[in-house]
Amino acid sequence: MEKDIKDLKVLIKPSELKDRIKTLADEINSNYNLDEPLTLICVLRGAVMFFSELSKYLKMPVKMEFVSLSSYGDAQKSSGKIKSFNLNLPNMHDENVLIVEDIVDTGLTLDFLIKFIKMKCSAKDVKLAVLFDKKCARKYDVIPDFSAFEIDDKFIVGFGLDYCGYYRNLDYIGYFE
Ligand code: IMP
Repeated sequence: MEKDIKDLKVLIKPSELKDRIKTLADEINSNYNLDEPLTLICVLRGAVMFFSELSKYLKMPVKMEFVSLSSYGDAQKSSGKIKSFNLNLPNMHDENVLIVEDIVDTGLTLDFLIKFIKMKCSAKDVKLAVLFDKKCARKYDVIPDFSAFEIDDKFIVGFGLDYCGYYRNLDYIGYFE
């Protein structure tokens, strides 16, 4: 790991993250019929913190599923290839599904995952919630239905997001200058 935590600058403080995630959950609640169950799909590992924070505030009956995908490896740029480690999902016939991801960058990972879920799992409805939307880096046609923050093309870490596997545990979002 070449980077030092001393060089990490704070971009978003813990309180700001939590407040915004709570208002995003309100937005999601108001977009669904709260009597209908919702299946949340957490995209590991980056979405883990966002997923657990967001799910606390959802008011409909919620089920949780987990998939594991990566397109970055140890670099700060997308490799352009998907590595899938686990895509085992039940048949979600006629269910409302919400994919929960840390960040949409080029869109490669989510383009793949959304198509995969639509093809394999016969869900009633598939939507996408992301913590960060790096719109300026987009190469695939992926538009999140719910997004907490829009950011420019900088590499960020913390709150689930990593560099070489580190920094996911931070309760804030930081960047290296
Ligand atoms: P995409 O497939 O190019 O959209 O990249 C999405 C994946 O790349 C995310 O799920 C993250 O794991 C990773 N990623 C993209 N941008 C960043 C970043 O700024 N910091 C850490 N990981 C990132």
